[in-house]
Amino acid sequence: MQLNNLLLEKTERYAIVTINRPEKLNALNTDTIRELQQVMQSLNRDPKILSVIMTGAGEKAFVAGADIAQITSLNEKSGSEFARKGQQVFREIERMRKPVIAAVNGFALGGGCELAMACHLRIAAEGARFGQPEINLGIIPGYGGTQRLPRLIGISNALHLLLSGEMINAQRAYQLGLVSEVVAGDQLLTRAKALAETFAGKAPLASAYILEALYRGMDTGLDEALEIEAAYFGKACATEDMQEGTRAFMEKRKAAFKGR
Ligand code: COA
Repeated sequence: MQLNNLLLEKTERYAIVTINRPEKLNALNTDTIRELQQVMQSLNRDPKILSVIMTGAGEKAFVAGADIAQITSLNEKSGSEFARKGQQVFREIERMRKPVIAAVNGFALGGGCELAMACHLRIAAEGARFGQPEINLGIIPGYGGTQRLPRLIGISNALHLLLSGEMINAQRAYQLGLVSEVVAGDQLLTRAKALAETFAGKAPLASAYILEALYRGMDTGLDEALEIEAAYFGKACATEDMQEGTRAFMEKRKAAFKGR
């Protein structure tokens, strides 16, 4: 796979995907979105890869948004297609079978904040900044921001950010529940790698079922969501890893999961 806008590094059990246009603060142009889709689809299919870290190249930005140079020429039809394409790629990331950790190393604005929100969890460097500044350009978020932000931080806080275009720092993002941890800038990747290793050490099918149950359940009412949970609990009970995990507990040893 020829990658011009991303870096892909694989370890034995997890991958690091780095958006790599630092001279444009890693702004997402259509080529980058397309590469992101290809890479994430291939990582989702790769049975050896058990978790993924998403980050941005350089010191300054995770991703400073969709590429504004490409937005200026959009009209109603091409604009909604532009949004739909990004939404589709981000939704595929959210529905991946393995945990995706956003390691937010700087500006996460517009499409960058939306990309971080489409990952399963977010950790931030102290200097990270979050925001949905689209309103300042006379547009609205188009990669899921009007939907995922209120789901993550509540309607009032989301509307404040969406309508003001204001940026918040990492501490505020933590207070609001937008990120689960804030760490020193030079510790961000170390911490992300430790988390990726932790997730990769768990039973892969159980991880996939947690993600499935959570995201499918969040889109429906509680009764149906609990049914979904029960169905995936049943599936987990039918795995070899369930036999191994429960036996290892009884035998006071560490489980060796196989993803079966
Ligand atoms: N799209 C396209 N190019 C972008 C970009 C974006 N979203 N964000 C930054 N860039 C480019 C700048 O145009 C500049 O390119 P140039 O050197 O060729 O002029 C380069 O990245 C560096 O950005 P610059 O603005 O000079 O850095 P800064 O430190 O002064 O400001 C920001 C940083 C993040 C505050 C500022 O770049 C910004 O506001 N970016 C846009 C954020 C935004 O509105 N995102 C939502 C888009 S829908």
